[in-house]
Amino acid sequence: MSITDSSLPFADWQKQCQQRVFTNLDKALPKHQNQSQLFNAMRYSALSPGKRLRPCLIYATADLLKISPHIADKLAIVIEIVHVYSLIHDDLPAMDDDDLRRGKPSCHKKYDEATAILAGDALQVLAFEWLCNLELKSDIIVKLCSELSQAIGAMGMAQGQALDMCWTNAPSMQPSLDDVREIHRLKTGKLFSSCIEMVLIVSENKKLVVALRKFAHHIGIAFQIQDDILDIIGNQELIGKKVGSDEKANKLTYPSLIGIEQSYTQRDYHYQQAIKCLTLLNLPTQENTYQPLSCYTRLMDVAKNMIYPAQ
Ligand code: IPE
Ligand code: IPE
Ligand code: MG
Ligand code: MG
Ligand code: MG
Repeated sequence: MSITDSSLPFADWQKQCQQRVFTNLDKALPKHQNQSQLFNAMRYSALSPGKRLRPCLIYATADLLKISPHIADKLAIVIEIVHVYSLIHDDLPAMDDDDLRRGKPSCHKKYDEATAILAGDALQVLAFEWLCNLELKSDIIVKLCSELSQAIGAMGMAQGQALDMCWTNAPSMQPSLDDVREIHRLKTGKLFSSCIEMVLIVSENKKLVVALRKFAHHIGIAFQIQDDILDIIGNQELIGKKVGSDEKANKLTYPSLIGIEQSYTQRDYHYQQAIKCLTLLNLPTQENTYQPLSCYTRLMDVAKNMIYPAQ
């Protein structure tokens, strides 16, 4: 497959990316099970039918910044297993207590809680092992490990999840739009940003950093707003998880704070800001960064599909 084939229609390109992620994960994840269920649980969750949006973002950025498909493949599965780890822990009874994920029993339902906790732990650490084994200069590998640890640690995703839990079922607290935006930026946006940051690190591209960083920031927030919206108006078959779980758990979300109509407006605003970051790069006045708009088409298509999946 050619992930750089720009003539491929988006849907075909996306299918190929998804297939590529599945094949690479299947090859790379540990297989030979002993008495414990750990490897089985890791494989069960990672190989279940996710949309593989973060890998698609990596492939599209890798194509734009001309990093090798081989490295993009590795980064794609690194980010995907971190994402899978976050889903396994997010579904645990101590967190969102969700029984269904990607249309199947959540990891702790299929196995047990202890196995799910350990499968999440092991997937997270495996991501760093895979980064350490990349055929890249060691200073680049250090930068990649540092980027990922910042994105998912105490100042990133873990903090976002902690804030999410603080605001859950907390009727006496008075949240603002800034509070919920910050949760979304940290719990979800940071990992999307990391997809782009990691490709930027490998490419050592300096010219597009600012624009791509802003682009990633806005699509991360728009995506989590859309996830909040789908928790209300989606259906189980489409989203692979139970509808209405946010309301049931008394979660702080965009719709719970500002209503569904305003949530659409906020989602669209962040999406448009993201696209604007790319279209501005196309202005000939920006001599350093000028590239024909067609270079960004794949990235724009990925963003559109993430936030407006049915269109
Ligand atoms: C779900 O992410 C978790 C959030 C950050 C909202 P996705 O909607 O990308 O989940 P999968 O990978 O397709 O299952
Ligand atoms: C999950 O957000 C964010 C992370 C997993 C880090 P949600 O709790 O809204 O995701 P879903 O709706 O369970 O997929
Ligand atoms: Mg959650
Ligand atoms: Mg959840
Ligand atoms: Mg959700």
